[in-house]
Amino acid sequence: MAGVAKQFLWGAASAAYQVEGGWQDGGRGLCKWDIYTNEERITEKVVGVQHTGNVAINTQDRAQYLKDIGLMRDLGLDAYRFSLSWPRILPEGTGQVNGEGVDYYSRFVDDLLAAGITPLVTLYHWDFPAGLFADGGWHNRASIDWFRDYAAVVFDALGDRVRHFITMNEPFIDIFYMDLIAENMRAGRSEPYRFTSEQYGRQAPAMHNLLLANAETVAEFRRRGQEGMIGIALPLYPTVTLDPEKPANVAAAKLTDGLINRWPLDAVFKGTYPQDAIAALQAENPDFVVPEADMATIRANPVDFLGVNFYSPALVRHDPAGPLGIDRDANPDAIKSFNGPVRPEALHDLLIRIRDEFGNPPVMITENGAGFGDGDEVRDGDLIRDPHRADYIRRHAEATLRARQEGCDIRGYMVWSLFDNFEWIQGYTRRFGMVHVDFDTQERTPKQSFFLYRDLIARHHRDAAPG
Ligand code: NOJ
Repeated sequence: MAGVAKQFLWGAASAAYQVEGGWQDGGRGLCKWDIYTNEERITEKVVGVQHTGNVAINTQDRAQYLKDIGLMRDLGLDAYRFSLSWPRILPEGTGQVNGEGVDYYSRFVDDLLAAGITPLVTLYHWDFPAGLFADGGWHNRASIDWFRDYAAVVFDALGDRVRHFITMNEPFIDIFYMDLIAENMRAGRSEPYRFTSEQYGRQAPAMHNLLLANAETVAEFRRRGQEGMIGIALPLYPTVTLDPEKPANVAAAKLTDGLINRWPLDAVFKGTYPQDAIAALQAENPDFVVPEADMATIRANPVDFLGVNFYSPALVRHDPAGPLGIDRDANPDAIKSFNGPVRPEALHDLLIRIRDEFGNPPVMITENGAGFGDGDEVRDGDLIRDPHRADYIRRHAEATLRARQEGCDIRGYMVWSLFDNFEWIQGYTRRFGMVHVDFDTQERTPKQSFFLYRDLIARHHRDAAPG
């Protein structure tokens, strides 16, 4: 972990497919989301109109992103987390490198550094190269080599300047949520959000391959004596048991914790898998076996830091019809955030749990943020009022700092997101930005949360200043 200061980084996060656009520009190949949105038209089935990432918020254009970096400076960001489009770098996912794509990212890194902003680079944020996805994606064991080889190209290109790499973003949501929704839509199922136990069992080997790819990539990073740190960004959902007097509900909540939280956490810090979750998956899919040699690879390559993506806790009860008997409850809050009930104390408690159960590793909050719909996006003269988002960010930043004071080794906090952008199956209908984007004109307008976050960062910079 040479070359990284222990300074706390205030930042914001984004992902290539959600912001870049230029889907056929600059030699970029296609990713699975280009297929999902342009061919399978999955967003149209959800929002009624076809939304794609073809143009997004156009950050592939340097003139645009330089203006955006200007806003980052205004905001006072220390760091910006973004992801690389794998097929912009390797159009086919393997083999031929696209020099134009590499140059684009290399320049972006230089432009950030020139603005005094630390780049945090995610290698994979769900945009699997389309051809390789058709060959099985993470289900294909060759994906371990595909990914490590892609990472090596990135380390060659950016490793001299980037000190924070994140291998994958939210593997569970990619494999056990988005891909299953797409599968259900393709099959014409009436309830695309309802998954079966059989589907969960079928996806398990893909998750295992991804965790192996993570381990092999960490090994590659170390083999090179790369400066800096490498981590993984996990979607962590503290589970809350609904009606806990029923033992079946308690068991469902424990299993949910095993599947979503403990599986990747145990893997990347302890080199083990949680027996309860693995046994439940194996009961559905007897072909899912975990060779000891694979576990040895995982054990030998723990990550340097944990990226925590936190939005809300998961409210769980037992439902025999749900996948592995799990049912997640709807959001009970009167004012509903898209990504679940607003519970900042659950973030604090999660950070304490990571401190106590996983050896107090360096942690970066790699995503935290909210969208509440039109009622929290109200134009008022030049300002856009989003008091609920502003309040959400303030309370979660405070929860983070409190955990830090209690000894958690927290190195930064990134808001999702700086800009409104393409919110996957919901297309452009769900805004998460501190900056409003007019998706027709690309005009950017800071919201109330932008100013709140700016004040918060400024106050903490003042407090942290020497003397
Ligand atoms: C998590 C994902 O990593 C990100 O891509 C998404 O937009 C946010 N959550 C908001 O839902």
